[in-house]
Amino acid sequence: MATFNAVKISESVYWVGAIDWTIREFHGYATHRGSTYNAYLILADKITLIDTVKAPFVEELLERIRSVINPEDIAYIVSNHTEMDHSGCLSEIIRAVHPEKVFASVMGAKALTQHFTLPQEIVPLKTGDELSLGNKTLAFTETRMLHWPDSMFSYLKEERLLFSQDGFGMHLASEERFTDELDPGVLKYEAATYFANILLPYANLITALLDKVKASGLDIDVIAPDHGPIWRKNLSDILDSYRVWAEQKPTNKAIVLYDTMWHSTERMARAVEEGLREGGARVKVMAMNASHRSDVAYEILDAGALVVGSPTLNNNIFPTMADVLTYLKGLRPKNLVGAAFGSYGWSGESAGQLNDILREMKVEIVAEPVKSQYVPTQGVLAQCHALGLNVARRLKEVVG
Ligand code: FEO
Repeated sequence: MATFNAVKISESVYWVGAIDWTIREFHGYATHRGSTYNAYLILADKITLIDTVKAPFVEELLERIRSVINPEDIAYIVSNHTEMDHSGCLSEIIRAVHPEKVFASVMGAKALTQHFTLPQEIVPLKTGDELSLGNKTLAFTETRMLHWPDSMFSYLKEERLLFSQDGFGMHLASEERFTDELDPGVLKYEAATYFANILLPYANLITALLDKVKASGLDIDVIAPDHGPIWRKNLSDILDSYRVWAEQKPTNKAIVLYDTMWHSTERMARAVEEGLREGGARVKVMAMNASHRSDVAYEILDAGALVVGSPTLNNNIFPTMADVLTYLKGLRPKNLVGAAFGSYGWSGESAGQLNDILREMKVEIVAEPVKSQYVPTQGVLAQCHALGLNVARRLKEVVG
């Protein structure tokens, strides 16, 4: 008996992916619960493999395939996404399988050859193209920049099953293959964390894609993503959540993000926190010596305010603050108000630098930065409290 078996997920589709229980870092994103790299086998007249897995997991993929068919019976391979967690063993699989054809989007065909020396030409597909598998049909939609230029959805028409590559996925290693077998709270958290860390910069494209899918009247019974469990029930839960997350309508939640050297900036942060709360905001305080940047990204998804603080270290902001703000800036969160504060010894650039970063992030600045030389006095703490109060008042106006 094989160690790794395929899991039937619909009439003709089997999950043949890999479970990565140990991964804790995914290009800057903390994957606390591991991940899966999903690949799917369609047992149609032309047996088709949708995506592959991260390179070290190639044997797991092959063994799951072997549990249902001889890998050499695969006629077609479709690569929905070039990123190496899905294509890392494509070359090896092509050599093992000798498929008739390998397909990818127009951009995917180009990108795959920029990553690998492949033993076979890639056939490019564009939106609207269909591929007959004999008794089944795949239809394709290019989803450029969701989240790479090559990204593509494949739709198995007869089973109303959407292979959505990274879309609607999450980093969650589990023995369960379906979302309805898992804790809804965990699903919502992990799906939101994935959205915040991977898809947030492309929120406008997601809204447009959801509108397009709705207008097309496309029936979807199953969404099979490339990470985490498969959606076969209550699909509106994840589709509606994507719409909400993409919209980033601000709530009355404020995040206070800071780091500290000798607790001066920390004291300021706590005074800001009290001001925010007194002003009616819900407050989440995140010290960057105890928080991961990707957990901050999760929190920003429904926040309305971002207040940031840092000591001045050698004329600059603290490195942990530079890290998290560089990351957040790249994710392009929208609809935030905010302000900055910081302590210093003699030069005092941090608060102003933080303010500049907030401006670059298009955060509406509500108050002038508050600065404290060395340890904050009661007067400085009162200014911090007032800063929090002012941010909360503006947030209340914005949220309505
Ligand atoms: Fe899961 Fe964009 O790769």
